[in-house]
Amino acid sequence: MAFRGSFLLSLAALFTAGAQSTTIFFTNNCPYTTWPATLTGGGAPQLSTTGFELPSGQSSTLEVPPNWTSGRMWGRTGCTTNSTTGKFSCITGDCASSQIECNGAGAIPPATLIEFTLNGSGGLDFYDVSLVDGFNLPVSVQPLGSHSCNATSCAANVNEACPPELAATGTDGSVMGCRSACLALNQPQYCCSGDFNTPEKCPPTGYSKLFKDRCPQAYSYAYDDGTSTFTCPTGDNYLVTFCP
Ligand SMILES: *[C@@H]1O[C@H](CO)[C@@H](O)[C@H](O)[C@H]1NC(C)=O
Ligand SMILES: *[C@@H]1O[C@H](CO)[C@@H](O)[C@H](O)[C@H]1NC(C)=O
Ligand SMILES: *[C@@H]1O[C@H](CO)[C@@H](O)[C@H](O)[C@H]1NC(C)=O
Ligand SMILES: *[C@@H]1O[C@H](CO)[C@@H](O)[C@H](O)[C@H]1NC(C)=O
Repeated sequence: MAFRGSFLLSLAALFTAGAQSTTIFFTNNCPYTTWPATLTGGGAPQLSTTGFELPSGQSSTLEVPPNWTSGRMWGRTGCTTNSTTGKFSCITGDCASSQIECNGAGAIPPATLIEFTLNGSGGLDFYDVSLVDGFNLPVSVQPLGSHSCNATSCAANVNEACPPELAATGTDGSVMGCRSACLALNQPQYCCSGDFNTPEKCPPTGYSKLFKDRCPQAYSYAYDDGTSTFTCPTGDNYLVTFCP
């Protein structure tokens, strides 16, 4: 009886709740610690965490409430707390909040971005990996559920192929990230701005192809939608892996 009662209560809760929450699992396969960050889109409230530490080999779980529509996530690298000022900062993906939590601040490029729109048009989730703001570390997004939806990733280490004019280097000269041509060279043909502000007028460039060759499933520039947007019926959970 007790079992049956609680079962019916659970069913009632399920139906009255309507929309489902989504779980995003994070796994860090990198040989170094990353500090994942989240940013909710459209000025909506932030998730329960906007930044946390994820040591090498560790996993973490983030519950996304049903009314959360869209946002982005990324991994920060080389983070430290300055012992004099007490301020937290990262070599790549820093959000300049001075804390582990980003509190609504976005990533300073270059950063590999994971973008989600959950329960969008047609009851579909949309997800992608974007190098439009450059690259800092390899990532993948794997839907977990019964729909057999496709994973997407930028699994290559683009830093190893980054030309000097795009490279973001550390104090020792090593390449920590690879900037987009738009960011590094700030010309309209790379930014799809000015006279290049439509998909027809802004074809891929040698620089965007350099990213696309390494990471064919990721956005390499602003109008790269055709091969870079992934969908899955709403209801799946997702696994985000750093260094897949
Ligand atoms: C998707 O959103 C619609 C409209 O807000 C809602 O009625 C529905 O329950 C949602 N579906 C899921 C699976 O969350
Ligand atoms: C979503 O729901 C939570 C909890 O009920 C609430 O705090 C938050 O403001 C809501 N967000 C939006 C965008 O409505
Ligand atoms: C800590 O911050 C101070 C003041 O900005 C700066 O001079 C110092 O170089 C920083 N220390 C490290 C280890 O970055
Ligand atoms: C997964 O990718 C394959 C190959 O690109 C495609 O044919 C298939 O339609 C995709 N599946 C879904 C669910 O999008």
